Amino acid sequence: MQTLSDPHRLHQLVRQWHQAGERVAFVPTMGNLHDGHIALVHQARSRADRVVTSIFVNPMQFGAGEDLDAYPRTLEQDKQRLFDAGCDLLFTPETELLYPAGLAQQTYVEVPGLSDLHCGTSRPGHFRGVATIVCKLFNLVQPDIACFGEKDYQQLAVIRTMVRDLNMPVEVIGIPTVRERDGLAMSSRNGYLTEAERAQAPELKRTLDLTAQGIQSLGLTDRNTLEQQAEARLRQHGFTPDFVRICHGQTLAPAQPGDTQLVILAAAQLGRARLIDNLTVDLT
Ligand code: PAJ
Repeated sequence: MQTLSDPHRLHQLVRQWHQAGERVAFVPTMGNLHDGHIALVHQARSRADRVVTSIFVNPMQFGAGEDLDAYPRTLEQDKQRLFDAGCDLLFTPETELLYPAGLAQQTYVEVPGLSDLHCGTSRPGHFRGVATIVCKLFNLVQPDIACFGEKDYQQLAVIRTMVRDLNMPVEVIGIPTVRERDGLAMSSRNGYLTEAERAQAPELKRTLDLTAQGIQSLGLTDRNTLEQQAEARLRQHGFTPDFVRICHGQTLAPAQPGDTQLVILAAAQLGRARLIDNLTVDLT
């Protein structure tokens, strides 16, 4: 596996692969890789001839007072994991390459509407930062396909919409959430939890499961009650809930009676960690 931070070398290699008729899959990450990230690399491996992974902690998607500086950086360990997973090329661009004009650059990619809901309300500018960096990385890597986790359900929806609306020639693949044995969704931010918080953390997924059962038995007319019960349950378990919302699976608007493909989105603070999770519900 090669590691490159030079975009020209990256272009040369990807051009060679494309000229040889090879399909290139791309997995963008912010590093501190866990089994969730590695599942994306395995999927990429199975769907393409070449796999490119990027590690870049993107300052534009962090708000003031968020964890940009504290975000875990474990490059040597990450390289070993990527090598073991069969990644061909690790791209580790410098901030100066991606933001030559600094963060006050003039051009952004915005997906309004979707980006303003849920996590976008609590983290203004976050999805603009995500869409902009993913667009930049797509331009640099020029992949045929790109893999993203369903763990970040709203992020995946924003990226699918960006790719569709801007006719980007990239096939976006969503990969199911990889969980710890006790149900906690794997996340680089789980490392912020104390031992006691870590023991409480699976209650987020349990709350989603109970809410899904509530939808199955009560339907959607009581959506608000189910959401409030879920938030109350999280509070009882030591979380400070940001939201639990039962949404239409594609638009992420509040689910209406008659909708069949749903997603329950949840975000909650537990100690230093802002945890997010989601569960899809099929009512057909
Ligand atoms: P990061 O949080 O490092 O996640 C990189 C990719 O791994 C994302 O597509 C995310 O959804 C996926 N992922 C994380 N945890 C997962 C899990 N438990 N199961 C399955 N997939 C999981 O998401 C980002 O970085 C950034 O926003 C990025 C897209 C790289 C843009 O900066």
